[in-house]
Amino acid sequence: MKALRMTRYGDIESSLEFQSANMPSPKVDEILVRVYAASVNPVDNMVLRGDLKAMRKESFPAGVGRDVSGEVVAVGKGVTHFREGDQVFARVGEEHVGTVAEFIAVHASHVAPKPQNLSHQEAAGIPLVGLTSYQSLVQVAGLKQGDKVLIHAGSGGIGSMAIQLAKSFGAYVVTTTSTANVGWVKALGADLVIDYKKQNYQDLLSDMDVVFDTLGGHYTLDAFKVIKTGGRVVSISGDLDPQTTEELGLGWLIRKLLALKSRKLMKAAEAKSALYRMVIMKANGKQLQELGNLYQDKIITPVIDKTYAFEQSKEALSYLAAGRAKGKVIISMEEPATA
Ligand SMILES: NC(=O)c1ccc[n+]([C@@H]2O[C@H](COP(=O)([O-])OP(=O)(O)OC[C@H]3O[C@@H](n4cnc5c(N)ncnc54)[C@H](OP(=O)(O)O)[C@@H]3O)[C@@H](O)[C@H]2O)c1
Repeated sequence: MKALRMTRYGDIESSLEFQSANMPSPKVDEILVRVYAASVNPVDNMVLRGDLKAMRKESFPAGVGRDVSGEVVAVGKGVTHFREGDQVFARVGEEHVGTVAEFIAVHASHVAPKPQNLSHQEAAGIPLVGLTSYQSLVQVAGLKQGDKVLIHAGSGGIGSMAIQLAKSFGAYVVTTTSTANVGWVKALGADLVIDYKKQNYQDLLSDMDVVFDTLGGHYTLDAFKVIKTGGRVVSISGDLDPQTTEELGLGWLIRKLLALKSRKLMKAAEAKSALYRMVIMKANGKQLQELGNLYQDKIITPVIDKTYAFEQSKEALSYLAAGRAKGKVIISMEEPATA
């Protein structure tokens, strides 16, 4: 089968190529999916550049892509709740990365039925950003009705999903974006959209219950300037907090170094009696099914910026790397014609 693969750490042009790869064979608790659509995420470019080497070393050639929507073509002996012909979607586990390919094996516990009202292209854009938003806002921040939440970068893959998810929980949603995106981000349901080109959100906000920091850098520490006492700051791009480094099972020395790095953040959190957590999302089929239901019930709608053909996958990654995506960037495979 044909697959896009990383041949070494580097850039999109020099380190990615289409190769002929062995067909994956599903283990006892796995499913083989024929890929109809995949989506790309910033993590794909980060892994390619070698930014995450300290956490996980790649062996080459390595697959590209973590989101998939497609059709089940085979199931392992231990799989009881999916069968051949099912239309499914998933964020595959790190051991299965490589959805920009004709076929992919996935652990059954990471898979959910595709919402029937969505195309494969729409569904492929949901898993990674949906699970990240769910695990950050619902699981860790415990978002509830009436909470005031700031979601940075409302026009991104994460932001455009997180705004809708937070609204579905009855939160008051504030988001930041650039001038050109203000109108359509507002239409996603945000109560207040701050144009970061013209306004400083720190001048406008105070006493937020939750800040969802998608940007990292100085934005993580700055969150404590607008959070209320006892509030919750959840980051997906900031420094790792001690609890998360422990959960990740990182070694003692690296945990010590990371603790030093996050010292300022933990101090700022303590001064506000606030929570600080850095979330590393995990594949989870059950949560994905819950998210799928929100799409099925039209409480959330997919936001797709651009769709590329399989052969244009490198262009898709380059477009995403520019950092200006408005919603999700999708890779569409050719579906077999129905008789
Ligand atoms: N920890 C985890 O498990 C996890 C999971 C998923 C993602 N992430 C991380 O989360 C980040 C966001 O992911 P994504 O998929 O949403 O990325 P993305 O789709 O590439 O985000 C692009 C968007 O960011 C906006 N943006 C850039 N700078 C901004 C600023 N200063 N203020 C407001 N908006 C700004 C851009 O809007 P404008 O053009 O209007 O500026 C654009 O719409 C990435 O760094 C990713 O690596 C982490």
